[in-house]
Amino acid sequence: MKYPRKLSSGANNTVIVLSDTEVAKLFTGDTCSDIGSEAEKMKFANAVNELIVKFVRLDYNEELQAEMLVMERLRPMDYCAYEVEIRELWLDVFEDELYALHQAGFVHRHLIRSSDSGGLAFDNILLTEQGLRLIDVGISALRSQVGNVIFKKYVEIELQEMKIFRTYFLNR
Ligand SMILES: Nc1ncnc2c1ncn2[C@@H]1O[C@H](COP(=O)(O)OP(=O)(O)O)[C@@H](O)[C@H]1O
Ligand SMILES: [Mg+2]
Repeated sequence: MKYPRKLSSGANNTVIVLSDTEVAKLFTGDTCSDIGSEAEKMKFANAVNELIVKFVRLDYNEELQAEMLVMERLRPMDYCAYEVEIRELWLDVFEDELYALHQAGFVHRHLIRSSDSGGLAFDNILLTEQGLRLIDVGISALRSQVGNVIFKKYVEIELQEMKIFRTYFLNR
């Protein structure tokens, strides 16, 4: 299906532009992920800090016959937009915020794109004028939902992925 004002397509969903400040992630009949749970996880993380893209509202588009997860529009730029010294500062903030989310009971789980789905390795980590931001909480997990044992495992993996990202980001 061809969507008007398409911004980008990820592994599962298409994202379209709504305005200068808002985009919508489309969930259609053939989307296997659940929009309600994605919205709840986003709201949870938004209450902790600014790292995860901000949730705006849920909506339905009759024309496109699609459920819409409306969110803050980010303006990503190439990682090379900033010199390495500045990137190190952005990384420190990013790590602190990620740890704070873990402490609060939220783990993102998708810093690195799985190798079988193509695309860029880190396309869920966007560099903006305000630093690094995270999108796509599709497979994120809350401690309250998965329990302590699984949550700790996910956090362990995320910390490993964070290290890989640090190396990539500073050498990009
Ligand atoms: N808030 C946003 N602002 C700007 N671009 C976005 C935003 N959210 C998603 N995108 C773009 O849309 C793509 C797909 O979104 P994403 O949430 O990662 O879906 P998927 O689950 O399909 O990977 C992203 O890789 C990114 O390029
Ligand atoms: Mg994605």
